[in-house]
Amino acid sequence: MRKYIGILTSGGDSPGLNAAIRGVGKAALGFYGMQVIGFRDGFRGFMENRTMELNEEMLSGILTQGGTILGTSRDKPHRMPVGGKVVDVTDIIVDNYRQHHLDVLVCLGGGGTQKNALRLAEKGLSVITLPKTIDNDVLLTDASFGFDTALGIATEAIDRLHSTAHSHHRIILVEIMGNKVGWLALGAGVAGGADAILIPEIPYDVGRVADAIRDRSRRGKRFSIVAVAEGAISKQEEAVLHAATEKVRLARGGKARAKAEAELEALEAQRPGHTMRLAERLEELTGLESRLTILGYLQRGGTPSAADRLLATRLGTACADLIDKGQYNVMVAARGDTTRPVALEEVTKKLKVVPRDHPWIGAARRVGTCMGD
Ligand code: F6P
Repeated sequence: MRKYIGILTSGGDSPGLNAAIRGVGKAALGFYGMQVIGFRDGFRGFMENRTMELNEEMLSGILTQGGTILGTSRDKPHRMPVGGKVVDVTDIIVDNYRQHHLDVLVCLGGGGTQKNALRLAEKGLSVITLPKTIDNDVLLTDASFGFDTALGIATEAIDRLHSTAHSHHRIILVEIMGNKVGWLALGAGVAGGADAILIPEIPYDVGRVADAIRDRSRRGKRFSIVAVAEGAISKQEEAVLHAATEKVRLARGGKARAKAEAELEALEAQRPGHTMRLAERLEELTGLESRLTILGYLQRGGTPSAADRLLATRLGTACADLIDKGQYNVMVAARGDTTRPVALEEVTKKLKVVPRDHPWIGAARRVGTCMGD
């Protein structure tokens, strides 16, 4: 019997999403003779039953386009803001799935999407996910599409910042996305030859960073580039946050817990702007003028790289193969040159952080890059 597939994109947009939609869709429609329907704006559009027909024509010409033709949102089925309240709309989503007589829902997204898909699988829906993220933090896959493109953009930014930092004898800090992990800052920092790279996995000592910059000055290098992951944290800040997190964990309910949570929230609210404060501190400590560039959403925009198009097409078409076999409730992971289905329960256990002994860190240290510790 002809299979009927629903597809949505959820979480932050990322280059390669359209290539993946095309990969799933073209293989499903043309190769397997299945039917495909798109849902707009992630789980919110699914809940609101906003659909988009995905036929050959719609899937044509999108391989090279950034963003997602389906639109996306960060809404979660179990905590959806509706009419001023946050409600659990899972039952509505389950009803819509049944109404459309879907055999499977394909969810393209990062860590949060994997968790949301697992929750739907636990409610009896059949789901398959693909790993999409510029952060590269999805577990059990060699790669996620979006990362390679963002890596190229961040590396090019560091290249361009070199000449202006050199001309003005300045320290230039470049803040690079990555949420709670440092893959993007580390990769771009190594590829772009940053003089210091600060990532959340290695809390930094600002004195050490200043020493490295002063040392460069003594050797006649009167500028420095510091690649800072948006989640980078100093040793001191990390100790304070850790203590506050422990307080929440140990609080025995009621007022004590609410107070501990409020304290933690207040500390987290101080995090935005930390790279600016670091720039000011480095200027004080080194006497060199400092400037900050925040790359932000530039890293998520535009045409996907060849590697991301290739990965998204491999994963998307492998997804259609799994649907044909009826293998559901898995993420399609990249392993070497092949793909592999991985149970969603395994993928969602934790984030893929940068191990402290990762070869990229080893390489950075060997070429003399300061890692802040
Ligand atoms: O997960 C991708 C990402 O770009 C992170 O690097 C960043 O922390 C976050 O999304 C930004 O989220 P938003 O798009 O909701 O502002």
